[in-house]
Amino acid sequence: IPTLSLQELIKQQPVASIPEQYVRVDQEPSLAVDLDAASLSIPVIDGQRLTVGEDRNSELEKLHSACKEWGLFMLVNHGIGTSLLAKLKHEIEEFFKLPLEEKMKYRLREGDYQGYGQYWLSVGDQKLDWADRFYMITNPPYMTKPYLLPQLPPAFRDALELYLLESRKLVKEVVLSIAKALRMEEQEMMELFEDGMQSMRMSYYPPCPKPELVMGLVPHSDANLITIILQVDGVDGLQVKNKAGAWIPVNFLPDSFVVNLGDILEIMSNGAFESPEHRAAVNSVKERISIAVFFNVNSEAEFGPSTGLISPQNPPLFKRIAMHKYFKDVASRRTIGKSNIQFLR
Ligand code: SIN
Ligand code: FE2
Repeated sequence: IPTLSLQELIKQQPVASIPEQYVRVDQEPSLAVDLDAASLSIPVIDGQRLTVGEDRNSELEKLHSACKEWGLFMLVNHGIGTSLLAKLKHEIEEFFKLPLEEKMKYRLREGDYQGYGQYWLSVGDQKLDWADRFYMITNPPYMTKPYLLPQLPPAFRDALELYLLESRKLVKEVVLSIAKALRMEEQEMMELFEDGMQSMRMSYYPPCPKPELVMGLVPHSDANLITIILQVDGVDGLQVKNKAGAWIPVNFLPDSFVVNLGDILEIMSNGAFESPEHRAAVNSVKERISIAVFFNVNSEAEFGPSTGLISPQNPPLFKRIAMHKYFKDVASRRTIGKSNIQFLR
């Protein structure tokens, strides 16, 4: 039986050897990267240039190539204030430092997938990730839990609510830019994004004496539309699989976000863009904390390859599907590796 909190387990009993449930034998090694090699470095997109001024078209081209070659990029100059980010990072650190009984108020309840704790894999080998998480849906209101966000310590809740709003505005600009770069109707993207489903996951990765034996977050692609990741400064761990199949570490620039495309964008772009496989490694020295916000399309909407991208020469590669059905069938299930969207082909 796993404990609810890995952090607590380690605190009570410093790990001499890694418990079997966490040991993964089939790990693909990460590439030792020469970060000067341009072909290996993660693209950086400037949010300011993307939205205003004469550099817009060249930044849109950069965005297009980042989405095509990586499906993931770092976003700088994004307009979300440094003080809000500093406050939020601080509050998340404080949250994970709370005594277990405080955090238990938000615990993952049996049969649910929202709350604080260690998450079992629903598929595969039932190994556990070297992490504690806190996942919750933040929109639409009927899917939210009254004992989660509203009950957080007030300073934390306020910073988080502001961040959820600000990141929503920012990501709306990003998806509209992606629509523009794809030459799809911005209106179509706008309608799908409007009042769309939103959720978030905070992750706490304790240091591990044998980091190469465990995985903080198993390889997967995101089932949603698009994700924005923020990490507490200075401790990296995120890795993305590039087109050549190598795991490349993502070293966050200070106050940057990492944005990664989800399966829905792969479908909407009719395969022009692909959702990247990514994972999180841990280290032996220092805990790592991140917060990912997941954006989805409106739960009332239906989506598929964007109509403007379809022609006799470019037939649709995916079937259309209603969001609520997709969420039930796919998005709430966890798969290892690239998600299976073949069933929509
Ligand atoms: C996540 O996707 O929930 C977190 C990714 C990360 O820790 O960088
Ligand atoms: Fe992810």
